[in-house]
Amino acid sequence: MTTLVIGAGLVGAQVARILIEAGERPVLFDTAPQAEALAEHFDPAKAAMEVGDILRPLTLAAAIQRHKITRIVHTAANPMLTLGAQRDPYAAINLNIMGTVNVIEAARAFGIKRVVVSSSNVLNHFVAGGDGSNDPMRETAFPRPTTFYASTKQAIESLGLNYARWHGIEFAAMRYGAVFGPWGGAGGGGPSNVMKEAVRRALEGEEAVLPAGAMEWVYSKDAGMGTVQALGAKDLGFGVFNITMGVLAKPEDMAAALKSAIPGAKVRIETPAAAAVSLPDMKAVSDLSLAKKTLGFAPKYGLVEGVKDLVAWMKSRKS
Ligand SMILES: NC(=O)c1ccc[n+]([C@@H]2O[C@H](COP(=O)([O-])OP(=O)(O)OC[C@H]3O[C@@H](n4cnc5c(N)ncnc54)[C@H](O)[C@@H]3O)[C@@H](O)[C@H]2O)c1
Repeated sequence: MTTLVIGAGLVGAQVARILIEAGERPVLFDTAPQAEALAEHFDPAKAAMEVGDILRPLTLAAAIQRHKITRIVHTAANPMLTLGAQRDPYAAINLNIMGTVNVIEAARAFGIKRVVVSSSNVLNHFVAGGDGSNDPMRETAFPRPTTFYASTKQAIESLGLNYARWHGIEFAAMRYGAVFGPWGGAGGGGPSNVMKEAVRRALEGEEAVLPAGAMEWVYSKDAGMGTVQALGAKDLGFGVFNITMGVLAKPEDMAAALKSAIPGAKVRIETPAAAAVSLPDMKAVSDLSLAKKTLGFAPKYGLVEGVKDLVAWMKSRKS
């Protein structure tokens, strides 16, 4: 069993760590691996590293062949996720959609069955419409994504499910909530960087700025765990899974979590301008029952535990 972990960032690092802790030697594949940031999470000698690009499919094929890959996790993403896709839709569409198609086609070509890809629970929150009440005969039948990033995630879910239906790929799409967690490299999305900056400021005695809207988060270690569970699940069933904390955190909850990890932390609640589009005021919480039933997923980290773990990690790096 050899797993190719495509994209070695905030989430990919956790997937690799969990696989290593389970006794595997995963192969990481990234255009620009951040060796130092990765080494904070696992011993580099326990994984292989390939520099490659999912938009150059032969680099992918070479890695698959060289390491006799038997299953794939795909977490590669364009920089700054929603924000990045709003700024440069073409690049995001190309990477997220064609990149994912290249990954699944490579799996087909090499007889690899299981492909687990990162979707996003923006598909639960950044959607509008659906006035046609699910009647496919009406143009307005279904809600549609309201950002480029969410549109690309909807496309890859649909394409992946059709590869499963028509070509025998065992496809799973993981709808992570806004991810935050320990990661010293570049990357992550708007929310993870806002959370990390808030913790950094609170630790330095500065005022931390927290988003004004309610948010559905997931800790990166749980995002990694859900992903690894999808790699190992006997039957993937429907194939699309919500992977979140399962709660809608209000700004006051975030402030309380920060203050419980850093007593005396000063907090201001407002939406940081740069991250506004990726920090909407979320109205409902995702249903985790399918992920629980099919994958055995249950988040280990709530907001308080996640912030505590992140604070401990940030403190440990300073010492
Ligand atoms: N971070 C979040 O809040 C969040 C929330 C929901 C879903 N997701 C999804 O989870 C996945 C992982 O997100 P993340 O936060 O770990 O991202 P990240 O930016 O930390 O890591 C992505 C990695 O992909 C690599 N990459 C980019 N283009 C590549 C290419 N062409 N070929 C190979 N590697 C390439 C980057 O170098 C980077 O190391 C993404 O698909 C993202 O859309 C993230």
